[in-house]
Amino acid sequence: MENGIILYNIGKLVTCRELDRDSMDNIEILENAYMVIENRVIVDIGVGEIPSKYIKISTKLMDAEGKLVVPGLIDSHTHLIHGGSRENEFLDKIQGVSYLDILKKGGGILSTVKATRKATDEELLNKSKDTLHKMLAFGVTTVESKSGYGLDEETEKRQLKLNKILNNEQDIRIISTYMGAHTIPNEYKDNPRKYIELVKKVAKEVKNENLAEFFDVFCEKGVFSYEESKELLLEAKKLGYKLRIHADEIENMKGAELGAELGVYSADHLMAISDEGIKALKEKKIIANLLPATSFSLGKDYAPARKIIDSGVQVALSTDYNPGSCPSENLQFVMQLAALKLKMTPKEIIKAVTINAAKVLGIEKEVGSLEKWKRADFVIFNAKSLEYILYYFGINHTDKVFKNGKLVYMR
Ligand code: NIG
Ligand code: FE
Repeated sequence: MENGIILYNIGKLVTCRELDRDSMDNIEILENAYMVIENRVIVDIGVGEIPSKYIKISTKLMDAEGKLVVPGLIDSHTHLIHGGSRENEFLDKIQGVSYLDILKKGGGILSTVKATRKATDEELLNKSKDTLHKMLAFGVTTVESKSGYGLDEETEKRQLKLNKILNNEQDIRIISTYMGAHTIPNEYKDNPRKYIELVKKVAKEVKNENLAEFFDVFCEKGVFSYEESKELLLEAKKLGYKLRIHADEIENMKGAELGAELGVYSADHLMAISDEGIKALKEKKIIANLLPATSFSLGKDYAPARKIIDSGVQVALSTDYNPGSCPSENLQFVMQLAALKLKMTPKEIIKAVTINAAKVLGIEKEVGSLEKWKRADFVIFNAKSLEYILYYFGINHTDKVFKNGKLVYMR
């Protein structure tokens, strides 16, 4: 066996194999388990004694010491690459100036656009690597990364090219999303129509240059209207993109309904989703991607997660890591908020950051659960149960992280 590893004495192995695809709370958890890894993939999983056929001279035996093991976490919604930070808006924000008012005054996303345009490739690369290293430490092995802080042709493409470089130069896998439709840049303030045409043009080039798989739009009051979002998403679909939508984050825009109609891979945020929106997601089997750390940071209502799940909609959870509405890369904190604020159960939460997050990114056949022939991406937590890591908040529970069968982080 080449590069064989057997991880044994796993107290709880949360494989996240779906025992019922339509349920959020029905995933497999094995006790006293072992996992056999060969050449980057899982070749067997079982409980009790390790079959002797797997134990060879070259096999490395690794004692999990009775700990909790889960699939590598997947952060399926981040605005990873950007220049600067926005602590200058922080006092206004906590004193009640609204997110959309800050943006209207040329701050918010627009101030990060300025900083990102100014930053060199090297600066952006170093800052992002630092962020990715923190994410890895929290147990994240796959990240989605959106452009959207360039808003001009050059900087948008620069962000997406940096995604490619980052994908090759560090351990976390990066899935790229073109989000030129993040807001209208200052230079097009008086002619938003012209900017929409530019987004379409750049979308075509980005697709031709194979710089992004996904297209995302911020459908929001004062940003992109329902009609504009629809127009952009339809164009992106024609160009062959997989679609995402920032839907009903602050105001209800019927974003969830629009996402459902167009078959997005996920509708994200949904703090202001309506009952009709939930129904539309359910009917079209669209995943609701919830980002509770954004509600926490903005001091806003949380998405009605219980209502969404109890209506039969599948849920994913992600950080939304960005310098404005979620300056934190801590996906474990997001999971803790999901328990404390969204009232999700431990099984629902782990499903939401593994197999469901993989579905959001269209990579569920390779990662997202620990099953035979899937990639050996997994996390060993310094804990005996899922409950423990959800209840004990604000610290990092990671003991070790493995990516493609290789140890990439150790506490
Ligand atoms: O998902 N909503 C739009 N985009 C981000 C915020 C970006 C920013 O404020 O810089 C979000 O919340
Ligand atoms: Fe976002």
